[in-house]
Amino acid sequence: MTLILKDKAALRAWRSSLPAEVKLGFVPTMGALHAGHISLMEQARAGSDRVIASIFVNPLQFGANEDLSRYPRPLEADLAKLEAAGVEALFLPSVDDMYPPGSSTFVDESMASLPLCGAERPGHFRGVATVVLKLFNLVQPQIAWFGQKDAQQCAVIERMVRDLDVPVEIRRGAIVREADGLALSSRNVYLSAEDRAAAPLIYQSLKAAEAAYLAGETEAEKLSALGLSVLARSDRLVPQYWELRDPESLGTIARVGPGGALLAIAAFLGKTRLIDNLLLLPDRRPEAIS
Ligand code: PAJ
Repeated sequence: MTLILKDKAALRAWRSSLPAEVKLGFVPTMGALHAGHISLMEQARAGSDRVIASIFVNPLQFGANEDLSRYPRPLEADLAKLEAAGVEALFLPSVDDMYPPGSSTFVDESMASLPLCGAERPGHFRGVATVVLKLFNLVQPQIAWFGQKDAQQCAVIERMVRDLDVPVEIRRGAIVREADGLALSSRNVYLSAEDRAAAPLIYQSLKAAEAAYLAGETEAEKLSALGLSVLARSDRLVPQYWELRDPESLGTIARVGPGGALLAIAAFLGKTRLIDNLLLLPDRRPEAIS
């Protein structure tokens, strides 16, 4: 049975009951769990002694016109998935418990949070960094797992942990995809049948750029133009950005060099905003393989 810890007091009591030598693994989520989330739970089970997950739809990371109120909350189904994945405990706090009236302290990472989703969703990464630091302080895990699906989120959290000396090791889990390449996301349930049919173009645009890179193209402008041309095969897909970035700082790059590149994309299908990404690793280029 997955133990449900409904507030901070219950979590603290559970945490302090664990022996000091236990290596606690943690997977924070906003629920509506799918195989991407569950893969992180499985990695946490393999990589730590005990595993706790959290489900908290964090209002601080949603903009005024975003989908906070309609964000899916299928708690019963989520619980069944956590049980099946062998997750020992679930932290399931309320908004009031996490943000008592009068909270006035926030975490601002000021480099990796600025471009891409940070530019399109002002305040989003401030909300993410603040809630993740709070969750780390409450749960006190030794290791926490995050998905490469949200590569910018990973970069922001890795920097926060490094810069603020947070004693938590961050691990990244690979992106889990549908058979046709669409990255799993809790937001995929919003897609109409027509939009769902167009959605695989997002991953195809990343793969097209990767293929061009592997064939020798390194110029960022050419690779992103190629990716955008693949997206343009459906007029349902409205790209918000399609960019090459340094994988760690998320700074701009004119060409793919020895540090590789993150190909990052955000696109709308109707009102639903989807993101995806792919890492170009320099050592996969033919001339580097000897
Ligand atoms: P959420 O969107 O629920 O995602 C929880 C974790 O699952 C994140 O680390 C995310 O990157 C990972 N994930 C989502 N889709 C995935 C996929 N297809 N493959 C692999 N991993 C995937 O990200 C958040 O919640 C929140 O911002 C949170 C970190 C919980 C802070 O509120």
